[in-house]
Amino acid sequence: MNKVVPAFRGRMTDGGANRPFPKGIETGEFAPWCADAYCERTGTNPAMSFDSVRLVRENELPEEGYRITVEEKGVEVSASCERGAIWGLTTLYLLKDQEGQIPVCRIEDAPAHGHRGLMLDCARHFFSAGEVKKIIEYCTLAKINVLHWHLSDDQGWRIESRQFLLLHETSGSYYTQNEIRQIVEYARRRGMEIIPEIDLPGHTSGILAAYPEYGCRQEKVQLAECGGIYRTILCAGKEDAFTFLDMLLKEVCGLFPSGRFHIGGDEAPKNEWEECPDCRKRMENERHLTADDLQGYFSNRVAGILKKYGKTPVCWDDTLISDLRPEGMAVQYWNIQRAKQLKDFSVKGKFIYSDMFELYLDYPHSMIPLKKIYGSCPKIGKKDFRSSDSFMGMEACLWSEHIETEEELEKHIFPRIYALAENTWSDSKDYSSFLLRLPVLMKKCAEGGAACTPLESCNPKGRVRQSETMAYFLKMNSAMTPEIRAKTVESAKPSREFARRFATQFFRLSDMPLLLKVMKQPK
Ligand code: ACM
Ligand code: ZN
Repeated sequence: MNKVVPAFRGRMTDGGANRPFPKGIETGEFAPWCADAYCERTGTNPAMSFDSVRLVRENELPEEGYRITVEEKGVEVSASCERGAIWGLTTLYLLKDQEGQIPVCRIEDAPAHGHRGLMLDCARHFFSAGEVKKIIEYCTLAKINVLHWHLSDDQGWRIESRQFLLLHETSGSYYTQNEIRQIVEYARRRGMEIIPEIDLPGHTSGILAAYPEYGCRQEKVQLAECGGIYRTILCAGKEDAFTFLDMLLKEVCGLFPSGRFHIGGDEAPKNEWEECPDCRKRMENERHLTADDLQGYFSNRVAGILKKYGKTPVCWDDTLISDLRPEGMAVQYWNIQRAKQLKDFSVKGKFIYSDMFELYLDYPHSMIPLKKIYGSCPKIGKKDFRSSDSFMGMEACLWSEHIETEEELEKHIFPRIYALAENTWSDSKDYSSFLLRLPVLMKKCAEGGAACTPLESCNPKGRVRQSETMAYFLKMNSAMTPEIRAKTVESAKPSREFARRFATQFFRLSDMPLLLKVMKQPK
């Protein structure tokens, strides 16, 4: 049996023999860069012409798909595009055994879904450029093709700006433009697109700590030290704020070749907008908008800016609170309280599935076990969207409010992201077969120094599960001091369905007494 994750969606015909791993590579009609990661991983010398893998362009093969033919006399990887060639070479690398042999075989493979992502929050806690590359390397081994990079939040702005120096200087830890370009290129050579996220108009203390004049109150703003939904918001009434955003987003757009740009839109409290004379004037002048519609107005303005720079917006599902929506936006669905709006939106629009009860990697394994991610299904209410045109794929989200070290970060991502990879690439649901194949990737992680949660801790049960969940809530609760609480707002009152899922997906009935005790712990 082959040991590749994600499982092939097409056929594998095993020739019943092995042959030595090819020593060279000929990229033929393909751009030479698409062999770079393969050469690094395997130690292949591209100049070697004896016994090389041959890349062959075959336009009929599906997007990202590939065919591998391993014969005694030669090895070929066919694909219609660079990414397909990269995935074919990635599979070839994973097929190599300890003795340096690969099976004589023929494999046809192509993904079920085009969006197979990881959202990485480097704003709450900053992770070095080297660490981001490490995450990219071990995600792309499983054909994860999108890194949604969350780069601005209440805790910091993480991009060097050549125009607005105070942005990165105030935040302290940031990526230089050079580092960003290198990371984008590193990801591209591994088949991955990077979509940057600048979260707007809420979660913007990182921006307003440097330039408070673009807020409603125009008062000093402090960087946040802890997670939460802060009242701070960019002003939707002041034209200067949009001029600033235009200049800033132009600069950020120039760093990321992706045609998509995430503009956040989640958890934007309207308290300051309701009180701000400029925002009130805007609401009046724009046909008496509500504060929620003002967010729609704001998103449209930002989308208009992005359009000038060749980008289409992706927004969190919070943007669906208003009927004023950027044209052509994709929605990232995370909160089941927007299920109804998402269903309506999906008649014409496209979405990425990131249900927080199933795909949030910041939660411990006791709350989001490996098996849950493997079995996650893009169901909204009762409707399964897996074969709907509006469903783009899935993204696992790693928020870093409570994740401080590289080791913690890696253990939250690996191996859970591999369950997402198989879920979205293969559409297959053979968890026990997945467990048999998974050790190959976990071994690669171990060899490259990427920490992985051991399999025996990926689906905790009983007391272990309970204590892990309680430890998480205790940590969250004790980080929320009364001072921080005063600056933040509670999430809107949860719907009954949300409360029901929260209680039943994350807890057992027997947890309740302990949970109440944990939540009441003095700070
Ligand atoms: C989110 O979890 N605030 C998108
Ligand atoms: Zn305002």
